[in-house]
Amino acid sequence: QSSSPMVVVANRLPFIVKKDENGVLVRKQCAGGLVTAVAPVVVETRGLWVGWPGLHKEDNLEYIPESSPDDKSPTAGLKSEQVIPVMLPRQLFDDYYNGCCNACFWPLFHSMPDRALFQSDKWQAYLTANKEFAARAVDAVKKIHAEQPDAVPLVWIHDYQLMCAANFIRNGCEAEGIQVKLAFFLHIPFPSWDMMRLFPWDDELLQNILGADSIGFHLEDYCFNFLDCCQRRLGCRTDRQKMLIKHNARLVTVHPLPISIPYERFQSLAQVAPAVVKNNPEEQILLGVDRLDYTKGLVHRIKAFERFLEKHPEQIEKVVFIQVAVPSRTDVKEYQELKEELDMEIGKLNGRFSTANWSPIRYIYGCISQEQLAAFYRDSSVALVAPLRDGMNLVAKEFVACQTKEPGVLVLSPFAGAGSSMAEALQVNPYETELYADTINRAITMPKEERELRMSLLKKREREKDVNYWLESFLESVNCDCKNTSGRL
Ligand code: UDP
Ligand code: G6P
Repeated sequence: QSSSPMVVVANRLPFIVKKDENGVLVRKQCAGGLVTAVAPVVVETRGLWVGWPGLHKEDNLEYIPESSPDDKSPTAGLKSEQVIPVMLPRQLFDDYYNGCCNACFWPLFHSMPDRALFQSDKWQAYLTANKEFAARAVDAVKKIHAEQPDAVPLVWIHDYQLMCAANFIRNGCEAEGIQVKLAFFLHIPFPSWDMMRLFPWDDELLQNILGADSIGFHLEDYCFNFLDCCQRRLGCRTDRQKMLIKHNARLVTVHPLPISIPYERFQSLAQVAPAVVKNNPEEQILLGVDRLDYTKGLVHRIKAFERFLEKHPEQIEKVVFIQVAVPSRTDVKEYQELKEELDMEIGKLNGRFSTANWSPIRYIYGCISQEQLAAFYRDSSVALVAPLRDGMNLVAKEFVACQTKEPGVLVLSPFAGAGSSMAEALQVNPYETELYADTINRAITMPKEERELRMSLLKKREREKDVNYWLESFLESVNCDCKNTSGRL
């Protein structure tokens, strides 16, 4: 466990602050892998969380509400005094979040450069916003320093929205005479040099990421990509075996730290969640749970399911495909277009195959609680997790943790980070519609012994390597760095 007090800095707080129907400020949950994994860590370590509460400077947020007594979410234990809100002017936030983070870095880092927009004013807004987040992080460090003057706080910066915050935090703390440890973790893939070099300000970006002392990615492949970019673009000396980068007389360490889930929490939720209502007891559920994002392969999935129904008419009225699609980044054009396309494809398929008593797809456009999700995971025969590209994908792991009754089958794409460790899943390339349809059929008809064997192995791994394991590995890596980086490269 960490002896250093922890400050987490992320674009989002783990909840959104909103006014309810009576005009009272309340917390509302938000979905996403970062929140699922990091929230329990901050609650457990009693750290501070610096982030955006979903409101802007113009909104004059007076206070952060405490969680309501019936809040069962993972952030219920996070007290208001642990939260430091970052509120930017609306326009600046829009340019930073929609314009740079989600219209540029998100597609580029997922190796979809044709969707990426490179705009200098949005990049400038990104730098300004990162500076603001950094200033609030320095406030958090000062708060800790006032209470524990001998402690060296650990500032843990998260994800692609804050890749340029580390140097600003370092300088701010130095100006206050406070020593800190700086770590950065990226929750999405780190792309190859071929992608990175398309970003017009790649040198500035890489130098800023190197402002952290310790940098974590989900997979070794992403670490190697980062080392490669630093070497080629900045001419840094790197050591691929020790995962070290020399930059401006500092040694920066890089770590593969595959993120995971609070396994026991999901397992317990699944043990008590009420059953999902089916059309008939024999009906088999296929499940998809995603933010509505073009990286998730949603349209490919609908096409594969359509092909499956064409090839296996005997499954009509016997299976149902439940797709939960969480509204996401709805101000960005690509996301609006995807919503329209998905609505159309689902409508077409349902129109084509529905009978008087049955529709093949149940489409939920909205965010549901982890309690409800646990019931879906537990009662589904097959989970379809086949993104076109995904840093890790926690849904695959949550499905496994919730398999407390009849074991189901996980269908997983190799283009998700989870695909590199969850070897007992059925692999599918989402671009190959024909094979995808056959894989759905194989999953839905898999004999019980095979399902049991595959699922028990998947469960064993995820139980052992849960989010606590991730946290401990991270803390170990940061502590080791302090000893190892005195070496030479
Ligand atoms: N999630 C949720 N409610 C929903 C759908 C998803 O709470 O209605 C959560 C889900 O449990 C998971 C996270 O959102 O923890 C999605 O994480 P993942 O890594 O799969 O994808 P990301 O959204 O981070 O790209
Ligand atoms: C992914 C990103 C997170 C982000 C989440 C939800 O998990 O890695 O940084 O918070 O998606 O997206 P949003 O834009 O709504 O925060």
